Amino acid sequence: MKKHLYIPFTILISVSLLACSSATGPTYSGGGGGGGGSNSTSFSSDVLPIFSGAGCTGCHGGSGGLVVTSVAALLAGGDHGPAIVPGDAAASNIIKKLSPSPPFGSRMPLGGPYLADTTIGVIRTWINEGAKNN
Ligand code: HEC
Repeated sequence: MKKHLYIPFTILISVSLLACSSATGPTYSGGGGGGGGSNSTSFSSDVLPIFSGAGCTGCHGGSGGLVVTSVAALLAGGDHGPAIVPGDAAASNIIKKLSPSPPFGSRMPLGGPYLADTTIGVIRTWINEGAKNN
């Protein structure tokens, strides 16, 4: 009498997907209309939860090499220079490393599962909006 192992596995995946979608929900802060452009993507509310949810912080949390837990640390970067170039997601190492064929090393998160395009898009938008520490 063998149990069907795929049932708990399916539940696990569903729970993970639910956790992901709630973690990446956009947060809009209703700011007064100033002169500059208004940012809709927040580091602390939108980007950081992606890093923790994907396990980035487990390997890049402060024990040497790249640290992804603050904007300053992302700007300081790793062995290959800054992880982010504010305003230029395409030139940012972090976007290159999340893409299928990074120019050096392995695709992140190392060992997968890799991020969905829409999730990478949140990080891309945040960088293109100037990588604000918000
Ligand atoms: C299991 C551990 C592990 C996880 C999880 C992981 N990384 Fe990495 N990361 C590494 C290692 C090891 C390297 C260096 C080797 C390489 O570049 O492939 C690296 C390199 C990088 C670099 C290049 C740093 C430089 O300047 O050389 C970036 C950017 C990066 N990771 C981002 C991320 C992001 C974003 C995530 C989450 C989506 C993530 N990593 C998840 C282990 C990990």
